[in-house]
Amino acid sequence: MKKLFFSVLAFASLMMLSQNACYYDNEVEQYGVATCDTTNISFSQDVLPVINASCLSCHVPGGQQESSPMTNYEEIKNYSDAILERVNGIGGIMPPTGPISECNQSKIEAWVRAGAPNN
Ligand code: HEC
Repeated sequence: MKKLFFSVLAFASLMMLSQNACYYDNEVEQYGVATCDTTNISFSQDVLPVINASCLSCHVPGGQQESSPMTNYEEIKNYSDAILERVNGIGGIMPPTGPISECNQSKIEAWVRAGAPNN
């Protein structure tokens, strides 16, 4: 009788574990990869909003910390290679408070690799 009880218990725990595993996989699929679309990246729709939100507190003339201005397409394009490096943490992470989301990193990367178009 005891043996049966323990095997039922073991089976039930296994079921719970495997259910959790499935649930986790689904979550990664839903919120990770699936929602980050890096095709047809646009400067005005995808890149500029990230720069505005995460960089312009400093990268404007007279900003919170002295750094090169990145307020318009020309300025951002001139720094595009450096921007890609810095949002990936190469040469010091930007913004200094910690990285932007992985999806926004991927979008900036896609834009720079496409030749940093003004689209
Ligand atoms: C809190 C202020 C602050 C924020 C926010 C910030 N930066 Fe900077 N950034 C600096 C400072 C100060 C420097 C110059 C020192 C250095 O290179 O680390 C700099 C340097 C840089 C450089 C090298 C060129 C230069 O200006 O000397 C790049 C490229 C850059 N930042 C990109 C970004 C990007 C992209 C963001 C937003 C995702 C960002 N930064 C957000 C303060 C900031």
